[in-house]
This record gives sequence, C-alpha cells and structure tokens, in this order.
Amino acid sequence: MNPMESNGRYRERIWESHLAADFERDVLAGLRAPQKAISSKYLYDALGSALFEAIVLLPEYDLPRRERALLKQHATRIVEKIGKPPHLLELGGGSSEKTRMLLEEAIAQYGSVRYTTIDISLEAVRTAAAQLLDTYPQITVEALVGDYFQVLADVEPRSATLALFLGSNLGNYPGRRGSDLFAAIHAALSPGDMFLLGVDLRKERAAMELAYNDALGVTAAFSKNVLARINRELGAEIDLANFRYASSFDEATGSIEAYLIAERSATYALGAGHESIDVAAGERVHIESSHKFTREEVRAMGEECGFVEREFLTDDDDAFALILLERSPR
Ligand code: AVJ
Repeated sequence: MNPMESNGRYRERIWESHLAADFERDVLAGLRAPQKAISSKYLYDALGSALFEAIVLLPEYDLPRRERALLKQHATRIVEKIGKPPHLLELGGGSSEKTRMLLEEAIAQYGSVRYTTIDISLEAVRTAAAQLLDTYPQITVEALVGDYFQVLADVEPRSATLALFLGSNLGNYPGRRGSDLFAAIHAALSPGDMFLLGVDLRKERAAMELAYNDALGVTAAFSKNVLARINRELGAEIDLANFRYASSFDEATGSIEAYLIAERSATYALGAGHESIDVAAGERVHIESSHKFTREEVRAMGEECGFVEREFLTDDDDAFALILLERSPR
C-alpha cells in the first residue's frame, strides 16, 4: 500500500533539511574540521534504516527488549493519563512494535488515534505509515519529514498529546543539544500534555560497550554505510576497506563514542565541486555519541525545561528507564 492512497487518513510535509544540499554542505564542513565528524542523523538513509532494524534484533543490543518489557507492563496506565481522542507525536520510531503497543492501547481505550511522526528519513516514514494505515482503520497519520529542530519549531500544539521519544534516541543529543531538544518538545506541547521518554542508563562499562560491538559486525556495517552513502549521493569514491569502526565508553562525556578510523592516508573528492578531503593514517571521523544517562541527569533536564516528572519506571537491573513527564504551564 502507498500511504498516499489512504483516503485522507495520511498527510505528509517535507522540510528543507531533508534535501541533499544540506547533506553535502554538512559532510564537507564536518570532514574539513580539525576533529572530523559526520552527524549521526545521516546514518539513516534507506539502507542505514534497514541496518538499524537489524541492530534491534541483535542479542548484544538489548535496549529495545528492555524498553518493550517496560512498555508492556505500563502502557495501559500511561495511555489512560492522556485524555481523548489522543494524539501521539513521535520523534523517530514509526513502524516499531513499541509504537504499536501505544497506538493499540489508544485505540482500545478511545476508539481512534491521531499519530504524527517526525523523521529525517522519507523512505522509512512512508514504509511505516503505509503499514500503520493498513493495520489500523482507526488511525490518521501525519508524517513530518526533516530535522527534529526544524520540524518542531513549526509544529502547532494539539489537544491531548503524548509526545514519544523512545529507544534512547535522546542519547544522540549529548549535553546542551539534549536540553535544546527538550525545550523544542516543550514548545510543541500544550500545558497538561505528556512526554514519554525512553533512555538507556549508565551501567557497567563492559555491558554498555558490548551493545555497540556485536559479533556479526552489523553495527560496524550500519556505521560505515554513512561513507557508502557519501559515495552514492555525493559521487565520491571513498574506499570503505580503508576504514574500521571503533567505539568505546568515554568517562568524560558519559557516552559511547563511535568513530570510523582511516588505516592509511588518502585524498577523496566529493560533491558537485569535487572538493578534496584529506585523511591521515589513523585519523578518526566521529560518527555518533550514544549517551548513557544517570537518573539525576534526566531529572535535571526535565525540570530545567518545564516538565514535571510523573513516573520514573525502570527494570529490575536498572538498565533502562521510561520517564513520563507532564508539560507544566510556563
Ligand atoms: C537509535 C540512537 C538509540 O545510540 O543506541 C545503535 C543507534 N548506534 N547502535 C543508539 C545505534 C549503534 C542508537 N539510537
């Protein structure tokens, strides 16, 4: 099914940030910086999104299973707090089983549900929307395609909204960027609306690192795909075999920091202007920070950004947390 054929139950809006010009500009700027970096949001093209779907099936990457168990236990109570008819506003997510649990709960309790998804990947959004529209006749779907910050700045608050930011996606926005995102979500909600946040908690180093170093090498492939994407979309000829993936927990940032490391020095031409980029032997390109949160950190962020904590739910080994926040009036 094409989501466009769903009899007015589907609406799509695309922001500039989705466009290729941004990708080229950001990649060139990032690879010219003294510490080379590519934003992790660019990991998710069609292939990257598919590889991430494989990551969530890996035994080493237990975040989704822990979050799902928590949701299964608490979904009814969470959805009861929204009011009717509910509007679920999700950053990322889409076709995930976790989103479905909440949508099904909303349909069971209120008869219908409005679902808005904000996502950088048009392909992923359309696939997810088509599946949801097909499965649930009681759903209307709005897809907002673009960078979270740009899209949220244009979102008008709706009634009875539950914002969702699951899967520890907040971990990709370390430090100030995380608080900025909280503030942007706050601005897109009305007083009394709810915000459900899923985050991975700080734990023993080995357990955190294993989740980003799977035996099959799927995480490495997911990460190196950003170079393959540069080749596909910016006409470059980066030799993928020249790069290896490496990640570890950094005490200073409280995050798993992931890099692509060049084995040998090389020069690559990219983009419309064939601009050249030099890499030195052993040089690292930062591709992702996955922050691991402490309870205190999450609490402070919520309070600072105008939310009141309603529930702080964790599993038995304190590995993952679901936090239900209410938007306060200010
Ligand atoms: C989707 C951002 C939550 O950081 O754990 C998984 C992405 N990267 N394995 C994470 C990811 C490598 C994931 N998030």
